Order: sequence, then structure tokens, then C-alpha cells
Amino acid sequence: MKKRVAIIGATGIAGQQFISALQNHEFFEVAELSASEKNAGKTYLNALKDHNGKLNWFCGDLPSKRILEMKLCKSDELDLSKIDLIFSAVESEIAKDLEPFYAERKPVISTASFFRYEDDTPLLIPSINSDHLKLVEVQKSNRNWKGYILPIPNCTTTGFVSTLKPIANNHKIDLAIMTSMQAVSGAGRTSGVLALDIIDNIIPFIPKEEEKVEKETKKILGKLQNDKIIHSDLKVSVTCTRVPVLDGHTEIVNLKLDSDFDLESIKNLFINYRNSDVMDLPSTPKQIFYVHEDNFRPQPRLDREINDGMTVSIGRIRIDSAFKGIKYVLLSHNTKLGAAKGAIWIAELCKKHKHI
Ligand SMILES: NC(=O)c1ccc[n+]([C@@H]2O[C@H](COP(=O)([O-])OP(=O)(O)OC[C@H]3O[C@@H](n4cnc5c(N)ncnc54)[C@H](OP(=O)(O)O)[C@@H]3O)[C@@H](O)[C@H]2O)c1
Repeated sequence: MKKRVAIIGATGIAGQQFISALQNHEFFEVAELSASEKNAGKTYLNALKDHNGKLNWFCGDLPSKRILEMKLCKSDELDLSKIDLIFSAVESEIAKDLEPFYAERKPVISTASFFRYEDDTPLLIPSINSDHLKLVEVQKSNRNWKGYILPIPNCTTTGFVSTLKPIANNHKIDLAIMTSMQAVSGAGRTSGVLALDIIDNIIPFIPKEEEKVEKETKKILGKLQNDKIIHSDLKVSVTCTRVPVLDGHTEIVNLKLDSDFDLESIKNLFINYRNSDVMDLPSTPKQIFYVHEDNFRPQPRLDREINDGMTVSIGRIRIDSAFKGIKYVLLSHNTKLGAAKGAIWIAELCKKHKHI
């Protein structure tokens, strides 16, 4: 029998992606939807409409009639007895109180940042650090919860740290420098980026983003030892910018390596990368990484949907002659791999390991 899930923040960008990705999922079915108080009691379709009663936008194909006609409930009135799992896609300040309230009884997988930095909370990308999942038992026992909170990483961290992992498994990385060009969908619909600010423009600052990416990268690359994650001592330097692209974060990476390497073997590390723990999960893409040989790739419009937005594209892999190292350009889908589909992937891992 399928597990029954609730989506909190169902009308937002990440929430819509959850609905889209769960339409025909083999493990999970959508049983409850919730958004802010102003939309409680409305059907999902009506909550998506603007103040003129028009539906202007949905992140993918419109959902089924069953979903469009579902009534949204207040997030603190969710009937948890009818739910096996909660996907939370709300702002961090809302997640702060709401997610522990749910986690007392049920598992919560969240796109929000509030719990990412807690010592007893793993920050999972299934292909990269599925071994950290064990920490969930420590969280449950520390907090005396029947459920737990598993946040996904920031959508800019996901592509970056994923590409570091195969290299870090084989070489010591002395320094990692990354500059992002992030899509507007990453800012969400509520606080969002104004069209007038972003069209014909680049915004050179995203508040709190750089600190998040640096901290999360070290945690994800860390080792789980004696019920604790020992963070990686990697030196990381990040600059985050917003560009007029709808979906897909592009990131330029420079890595200083302390051992000898040749470019072909670096490319092969990406091409051959696997994590046997996740090969049988429905959301695991055919390729974790796609290495482009064409110097004009990856591009957001051409490449963000590779394997339905679950593959990280890497191109322009070359020697960095300024120091002993390499440089490359990566692209990852911020609302799919970096949000809803990444969270569903974690839920699949939890189900496999009997945490759901
Ligand atoms: N967008 C991305 O690429 C991305 C990637 C990774 C992580 N994230 C994270 O995911 C979370 C959601 O981001 P988003 O981009 O989807 O934001 P968004 O488009 O602004 O959506 C926010 C959602 O939260 C709902 N909401 C507001 N107050 C609520 C409450 N009290 N109870 C329940 N729902 C409430 C809103 O409902 P109404 O429609 O009723 O206002 C809306 O559905 C954020 O923490 C963000 O940092 C986003």
C-alpha cells in the first residue's frame, strides 16, 4: 500500500514541484495539502489563482482533477492520524515551529533551512551521503520524537557538493572556490524577485546564501563517527548571484588539488560515480553526473531537464593553470533535484531503510 503524504506549502514553487513529482509515484500518494491561512478552505485550484481569478502559472503539467479539487487545510489542523509522512515546503521561520510540532508524531522531510545546522540532523543528498541517514535515530531519541526532521540542503549547495564528492573520494582538495548564477525560481513566489529588478540585470548578492553553502558543503562531506558528523576541513569560498534564468543554477568551480591527476581520470570519476545504496530507488537518475564535451554546454535551457532534473551537468572541465587544479561549470535543477524531487528521493531512502 502507498504511504499517505501531506504537502505543506503546496501552492509555492517547491510545493508545486512536489505535486508534480508525486502524481504517479510508486511509494507515495498525496492525501492532504496545506498552504498559508489565507488559502485554508479553498480548493487547490482556487488557491493557485491570482486576485483576478486567473491561473497564470504552474511549474509543470496541471495536476489531476482529484488534486485540483482537494481542499487546503490549516497547517496546524492537519489530521496526522491519516498521514504517514509530511513534505514541508515553507519558509524557514514557519518551519521552525511547524516542523517539530509534526515531528513529535510523524517523519518530516523539508526544503526549509531551519534544522539544517542542528548537530543531530543529517543533511542528505542520497547519491552523496546516504550513510548519514543513521543519525536520524539519534535525533529521535534526543528529542523524544516518534518522527524526525530531515531537511534537504540549499539548492545551490546541491550541485556544488555533489561534484566535489567523487573528487574528494580520490584526491585531497586544498581549496574549492565557487561562483553561482542562480535562477529566479530559487527565490520562491512569496518573497520572490521582482521582474523589474531582474530582467536585463544580474544581482550580485543573495542574503545568507554564501554562508549556508559553505557550512552545508562541509557538513555533507563530513564523516559520521560515534553518532556525530565530523565536518570536512575543506576550505570553501563562495559568491552567489541571481540571474534572469527561470530554473537551473549554473555554478563555476575552481579546485586546488594537492595530488597529481589527469583530466581524463577526473572526467571518469564523474562518469563512473555510483552509490550502491541508492541504485534501486525510483528517483535515482540513470546518471548522477552528465559530462559535456561541447564547450558551449551546460546551458540551463538545454540541460536542466536531463533525467527529469535529477542529473548534475558538468562541462568545460579543464586544468586551472593559476594553481595545481581543475575548473569546470556545473548546472543543477534548483526546484527538482535541489528541492521537491531531492526531498522525495530522501523519502525513498527512508522507506528503504524502514524509517517510514
Ligand atoms: N524555490 C526553490 O528553488 C527552493 C529550493 C530549495 C529550497 N527551497 C526552500 O523551500 C521553501 C519553500 O520555497 P518556495 O520557493 O516554494 O517558496 P514560495 O514559492 O514562496 O512558497 C511558500 C509556500 O509556503 C506557504 N505558506 C506560507 N505560510 C504558511 C503557513 N503558515 N503554513 C503553511 N504554508 C504556508 C505559501 O502558501 P500561500 O500560497 O497560501 O501563501 C506557499 O505555498 C523555502 O524554505 C525555501 O528556502 C526553495
